[in-house]
Amino acid sequence: MTYSIDLCQMVDLPKITDARGNLTFIEGGHHIPFDIQRVYYLYDVPGGAERGGHAHKELRQLIIAMSGSFDVVLNDGGNEKRVHLNRSYAGLFVCPMIWRELDNFSSGSVCMVLASNLYDEDDYYRDYGQFLQAKAALMTGGQ
Ligand code: TYD
Repeated sequence: MTYSIDLCQMVDLPKITDARGNLTFIEGGHHIPFDIQRVYYLYDVPGGAERGGHAHKELRQLIIAMSGSFDVVLNDGGNEKRVHLNRSYAGLFVCPMIWRELDNFSSGSVCMVLASNLYDEDDYYRDYGQFLQAKAALMTGGQ
């Protein structure tokens, strides 16, 4: 399996529009291609701050701008794309082995992440050089 940024696509979520306020729901394994083991969120992000700056070996994620907006920069070691998130009824699916950085947070924005596994520091590449080496090894191995 070659994990490229082409696999990282926006997922439209169900939206129940209502004059009293809209409602969106997400069922693991149904609306997104994994069971949800963990939810975390970024908030109170100061202007100009950057988050992320790592890749995951196994973890699958869906990133949603619950409020406000921010950008996610995805890099698979060969190609890069910047995705602007600003809707609470759509999320960005991020497959394993993708280096990601988050920036351009608007004031008061909230970034919610649905994750396929519990937190595990051993699942991280936090060094970009080590990430590129691991990508190269996977390519050599035909994966
Ligand atoms: P990190 O994943 O680097 O944050 P981000 O990608 O959003 O910039 O995590 C920051 C810190 O929080 C790090 O010390 C690990 C810790 N952490 C947990 O303990 N549990 C979690 O589920 C997450 C996502 C992070």
